[in-house]
Amino acid sequence: MKTEFRLEPLSQLDVSALVAYTFEDAPASSGTAERLPEETRQQLQELQTAGELTGKSFELTILRKPAGLTVAKLLVVGAGKREKFSETLLRQLAGAAARHLRSRGGRELAWILGSAELGAVASVVEGVVVADYDSDRYRTERSAEKSIDSLLLATGGDALPADAEGALTQGRILGEAQNFTRDLVNEPSNIMTPTKLAERAAEMAAQFGLECEVFGPEDIQRLKMGAFWAVAQGSQTEPARLIVLRYSPEGAPEQPVVGLIGKGITFDSGGISIKPSENMHEMKTDMAGGATMLGVMQAIAQLKPMVRVTALIPATENMPSGNAFKPGDVVTSMSGKTIEILNTDAEGRLVLADALTYAKQLGCTVLIDAATLTGACMVALGNITTGVFGWNKEWVNRVLDAANAAGEKMWQLPVDDDYRDLYKSAIADLANTGGRYGGAITAAMFIGEFAGDTPWVHLDIAGTRWANDEKPYRAKGPTGHGVRTLVQLLTDFQA
Ligand code: BES
Ligand code: MN
Ligand code: ZN
Repeated sequence: MKTEFRLEPLSQLDVSALVAYTFEDAPASSGTAERLPEETRQQLQELQTAGELTGKSFELTILRKPAGLTVAKLLVVGAGKREKFSETLLRQLAGAAARHLRSRGGRELAWILGSAELGAVASVVEGVVVADYDSDRYRTERSAEKSIDSLLLATGGDALPADAEGALTQGRILGEAQNFTRDLVNEPSNIMTPTKLAERAAEMAAQFGLECEVFGPEDIQRLKMGAFWAVAQGSQTEPARLIVLRYSPEGAPEQPVVGLIGKGITFDSGGISIKPSENMHEMKTDMAGGATMLGVMQAIAQLKPMVRVTALIPATENMPSGNAFKPGDVVTSMSGKTIEILNTDAEGRLVLADALTYAKQLGCTVLIDAATLTGACMVALGNITTGVFGWNKEWVNRVLDAANAAGEKMWQLPVDDDYRDLYKSAIADLANTGGRYGGAITAAMFIGEFAGDTPWVHLDIAGTRWANDEKPYRAKGPTGHGVRTLVQLLTDFQA
């Protein structure tokens, strides 16, 4: 998608579609519609009087050959009540406009910028990039063939604000990072194998100048990652990979080193504790945590915050086979702690346990993991809100603040010593499940046992990884949820 600024007066713009937004319970030419020529505003006023234009959020009204403009059509998007306007909504409005136009064969759109709105530039670009993504790449007649080729940002004759180009680039980087994550999550497990995930990570790292190291089964065993290996040994055809990416900007302080650990189960059958077949296909998305971290790394490699970051993705299938680990097995994790396996479907915490231990060994001083960890978290928060866990109040709050600033819904759930008894084992240091009740908490706390004294925050994205329905501003399917928050958290180090 080409993106560029257009500085001519709106009345002289020669594009196929111009987009303005207008507020509810306000004059028809409020919002950016305020900037339209007098004759066009008159037309909008008439539509409002006739009850055909209300400004309700995501209302879409098309005017062909609008008065006072040379454009073929004007699309007016309802922005809802002025008091509720936000950056998130602006991204969504731009996305809704893009999806609406392209569903009718439009490939070009011009968005009217409010005067001197630098923040809006990034939001609009990101909103359109995210909206232009589709999850139907395997359909032979793809809807993505109808995509937006050209996004124009119209200043209506005003001069560009300083660093407008920078804002444009930032919006594009953030949007593309989320789409990269969504692409990885969307791929079926016969294609997105651990090997393929590592290849995609290495390609991305090479393109954006990150260090990348990929370990295989022998390395995993040599490093004594007994918990990761327990899960990995079940796949007889797809070798496991441990993906490590490093971002170390010159001049950044030695500490902190932020460790981003993402669950990379490319298919979770449940293993010997096999899952019911209904909805099992959704378990191709069980590497969404890993994909989130790859999206974050792609973004920061370009945005260049002044902080060291290491990403670790333990990637493997979880399969039943003659080699598979079994309920009742006891394994020794890299940390030395022994784990009794009570359910092979609680595999995420096992691969993360060893990845966290290795992250500390590599010098990470703060750990953040993202994982499609528990159905219990989905029961608690649905697919709207990510669960946030951790003992370290400061880091939990930093993540929650970043989520808030990023417009992603995240909510803290407790960790508490009183839950510890639930995952005690009769014969080993820990058991890998804590039972049905409080399942998201005991899963999180199990991982936390391996963080030890290192500040650690866990994000359970089981619900938020995937959207079951389409919205005006984005396709159904993989969401890329979490990327914005973590990029926000890391770019806060810029100052
Ligand atoms: N990957 C699943 C969790 C999951 C479920 C993610 C639904 C997305 C949608 C995880 O590995 C799992 O199977 N968890 C079990 C844990 C249980 C065996 C203690 C669960 O949540 O049922
Ligand atoms: Mn599982
Ligand atoms: Zn899983």
